[in-house]
Amino acid sequence: MKHHSSSVIQLPPSFRCFVLIMALLSVMSVVAQGPNEANYDEARVPQYVLPDVLTCADGTVVTSVRAWERHRRPELMAMLASLEYGFTPKGMKNVRMSHQLVKENREALDGLATMQQVQLTFSRGGVTREALMLVFIPNVRKGRVPVIVGYNFRGNHSVMENEEILYSPYFQQLPNREDPVLKRGNQSSRWAVRDIVKRGYALVTMCYQDIFPDVADGGPRSVTALCDAESEPGTAWQALGAWAWGSSRMADWVVKQRWANKHQLVIMGHSRQGKAALWAGAQDKRFAVVISNDSGCGGAALSKREFGERVGQITRSFPHWFCPNFSRYGGREQELPFDQHELLALIAPRHLYVASAVEDRWADPHGEYLAAYHASPVFALYGLKGLSSPDMPAVNAPIMNHVGYHIREGIHDVTDYDWACYLDFCDKAFGR
Ligand code: GCU
Repeated sequence: MKHHSSSVIQLPPSFRCFVLIMALLSVMSVVAQGPNEANYDEARVPQYVLPDVLTCADGTVVTSVRAWERHRRPELMAMLASLEYGFTPKGMKNVRMSHQLVKENREALDGLATMQQVQLTFSRGGVTREALMLVFIPNVRKGRVPVIVGYNFRGNHSVMENEEILYSPYFQQLPNREDPVLKRGNQSSRWAVRDIVKRGYALVTMCYQDIFPDVADGGPRSVTALCDAESEPGTAWQALGAWAWGSSRMADWVVKQRWANKHQLVIMGHSRQGKAALWAGAQDKRFAVVISNDSGCGGAALSKREFGERVGQITRSFPHWFCPNFSRYGGREQELPFDQHELLALIAPRHLYVASAVEDRWADPHGEYLAAYHASPVFALYGLKGLSSPDMPAVNAPIMNHVGYHIREGIHDVTDYDWACYLDFCDKAFGR
């Protein structure tokens, strides 16, 4: 026994050193589980108090649609703009947008769709920015069709393997033509284009990088350079505000098309674009259905749960997304005077769909569900059914009330399953 124990002590010095370092590291990680670390343990979610979506800052309780629209809604819009997403400068109204059809194929997708590529040019005071939309319009149409608007991450060429698709302006600048990001169709699994068109919906997509290059110093190359700052620096808009603005410019073009039903406009965004889609939906009431796919922190997930990605982390990793004021709440989520359920509530009385994925714990699926649940009183004010239970539904069992929700199996992604749910939800919303 003695021998045995001494043999344990007689480990080679290098191994002893290794054990010591590992022990130290594990102690340090507990100590360092500081205010900005990702938490994946439901038991460590703090006791938090959510601001009541229907109670105004002065304590008045909203009991009518009128009071919501006149007082509480504008108050929340201003709070989210000044502390999270930044104000969209009023001067952006003076940006001129022109559009040009660059390419058209009336027999795309084996004749199912007309594919158009339309360049948008934004100009103001001698500054111009360009973006390129990729559009699929179903060829079989009974009247005007519903339209889904959504950004792609890796350029229009990534949406489908098709030589006719032009590179988005952002990708045209890449020096190395062999760069793997230029591979056609490299994100086609995220775009169920055929299913969308077969179900009678048009799809309009463009690359988010055309609107605001997604890097810390992307501002000067983005559309935000079209307009002088108007607000104090802490409340200045950055990428998320700009991406939301760009979605509305896609909508400006869509509503003028004779094939489009301007009352059936849908915005869908994944992840960082899910965040932007929610903010776009809050600001632009032309979006009749707003869909957030795995949008997480700063999107559908409640910040005060402090689960998965946290405010301190997101504002440090992506200092160019939110307005500077938001970073003040890193590690101080409980001091936020609002939470993300209030962003979701701003979509009412239009349709809202929030989706999560089981393995996407960084985005806090439970927090995404709870935010939609806690937004529901505002839908109820309009006599609409949101989510009625604080308990999440089973995996792959979508809820489709006026507010929809699903959690599917799998990772952070957009899948055919997600699209099938979104199309069902939109059909229901539009009575199709
Ligand atoms: C990062 C980021 C998330 C974001 C995601 C995405 O993971 O931390 O907040 O949603 O990128 O956009 O894919």
